Amino acid sequence: MCGIIGINSNKEVTSTILNSLRKLEYRGYDSAGIATLNSGYIQEVKCEGRVDNLEKNIIKNKLLGNLGIGHVRWATHGIPSTLNAHPHSSDNVSVVHNGIIENSTLLKKFLVKKGHKFKSQTDTEVIVHLITEYLKKNNLIDTLTKVLKKLHGSFALGIIFKDEPDLIVGARRGSPLAVGYGPGENYLGSDSYALKSMTNKITYLDDGEFCIIKKTEVSFFNEQGKKINKKILSLTTDEQNYNKGDYKHFMAKEIDEQPLTIKNCINEYIDKKNNEISIFNFPWKIKDISSITLVGCGTAYHSCLIAKYWFEQLTSFDVHIDIASEFRYRKNRFKKETLYVFVSQSGETADTYAALDLCNKNNVKTCSVVNVVESSIARDSKFVLPIHCGPEIGVASTKAFLGQMLVLYLLCLKMGKLNDDIKKKDYISKIKSLLNLSKNIELSLKSENDIQTISNSFTNIKGSMFLGRGYSYPIALEGALKLKELSYIHAEGYPAGEMKHGPLALIEDGMPVVVIAPRDEYYKKTMSNMQEVIARGAKVLLITNKSTDEIFSENIWQKIEVENTEDDLLPFLITIPLQKLAYYTALKKGYDIDKPRNLAKSVTVE
Ligand code: M6R
Repeated sequence: MCGIIGINSNKEVTSTILNSLRKLEYRGYDSAGIATLNSGYIQEVKCEGRVDNLEKNIIKNKLLGNLGIGHVRWATHGIPSTLNAHPHSSDNVSVVHNGIIENSTLLKKFLVKKGHKFKSQTDTEVIVHLITEYLKKNNLIDTLTKVLKKLHGSFALGIIFKDEPDLIVGARRGSPLAVGYGPGENYLGSDSYALKSMTNKITYLDDGEFCIIKKTEVSFFNEQGKKINKKILSLTTDEQNYNKGDYKHFMAKEIDEQPLTIKNCINEYIDKKNNEISIFNFPWKIKDISSITLVGCGTAYHSCLIAKYWFEQLTSFDVHIDIASEFRYRKNRFKKETLYVFVSQSGETADTYAALDLCNKNNVKTCSVVNVVESSIARDSKFVLPIHCGPEIGVASTKAFLGQMLVLYLLCLKMGKLNDDIKKKDYISKIKSLLNLSKNIELSLKSENDIQTISNSFTNIKGSMFLGRGYSYPIALEGALKLKELSYIHAEGYPAGEMKHGPLALIEDGMPVVVIAPRDEYYKKTMSNMQEVIARGAKVLLITNKSTDEIFSENIWQKIEVENTEDDLLPFLITIPLQKLAYYTALKKGYDIDKPRNLAKSVTVE
């Protein structure tokens, strides 16, 4: 949430900062700004809206300098506006900030008494004035140590100073921040993605640390202001994944990439020769685990919900699932024999990270299922299972969802086998079915034309419902989430059997209802629930799988059939048409598909 870039170079930096901000736009896009140090003065240009607007402003108001910081914002305190856009500057200091300063009101009172004048409604501006105030009587390191201690809440900061022509400060608590190293220049970025086009040499700051970035060297400090040594990591270069290629949107590209990402993930985990799942170095003995708790947010939470069905069906472990923002505030009974699994595409989601942190503090077994392996969640969990999807840029999560489901399914099979819950014969047969998954996803992607036509009927509706039972219930939640986040249509996912306990009252004549009913053990029951909504006027779009069995209803409005596969794997296939339905509905409504309103890709605030 929000993106930061900083460059200290021996050449002009504005255009490189602009390019990096474009890459970071997926983290927030309600306003943007850059500040540079030019001939001993801090200069800034800011705007409401996208980086394109910022570029236009910069063309009008030239912004020069070899050192600068930039920001894209996702508003927390104060409306999205030019005034509230970052950087925030005094004559002496300019600051970009990701996160929330929880005690900003109190700090502001103190600063106003000291004569500081505030221009914006943001919490960030207190940092500018605090630094300005402390610099009057302290050197730089003491100022930073004292100011950072005064701030409550979470932050990643980039700071430049009028009187320090060769220095950018970075500081981290709660929100991720990385330093990059280049020839004769060094960088600061809120994630490695922003830095990757400039360097593959990176250091991540840990909580409580700050750094001083000069052109030719970087120094790191702990909370007490003591110098520390940090490792430089080498990132893999997969630049092509960051481009849309011939696609109009990242989301369309990411949907189409799914056969490939699933294939890659299967290649990483399945030893085809021995029909084995290669989850090695698991740091615990299986007999020391009796239950599993799965935690995530949004789409990642939906993958946890599906995994619960798999674990319960195939293993004897007790399974609990939780939304990360709830988990962290409940009075959990932490148990040594529970494996806590944290699922996150970005690996930076604040609530998921906080839940993991809580578990680590209680010294229990923690494992993460992530896409970004350099992320905070991956680094701080005791065992990591990457989903190997490559970068996901569209705000709506698609290929990461399938990747999360796949890795959780593999974990379930492996633990089930180790625990003697799954017979060898069944284990091998399930692995063999997995080897066809990529091909089946590819075939299921071919329902393109049908979905495009069907989506016409969704563009002008007031609301919709997505219904499913068993594995298809979490998929219904996911389908509804995709439709609402992209097309701004109210959509509810519901267990099909729960409709008559209230929500049936919402059904109106002509209302489109998506019924997700593959021919699994729940199929007949869901068909009955489908009839109940049809009887009340709903137009049903049925999503099922191909089968020789007749569908015994003539009143279905539309039907999409995905490929046939074993029941466990149907969730992967029935997700595809739902992703496409949301995509095409939003496309026809003319909305910004990769950057839906009010959202951001990586949610690094509570
Ligand atoms: O990076 P994470 O997987 O932790 O993100 C969790 C959610 O914020 C994310 O899945 C969100 O719900 C997506 N926008 C859904 O498409």
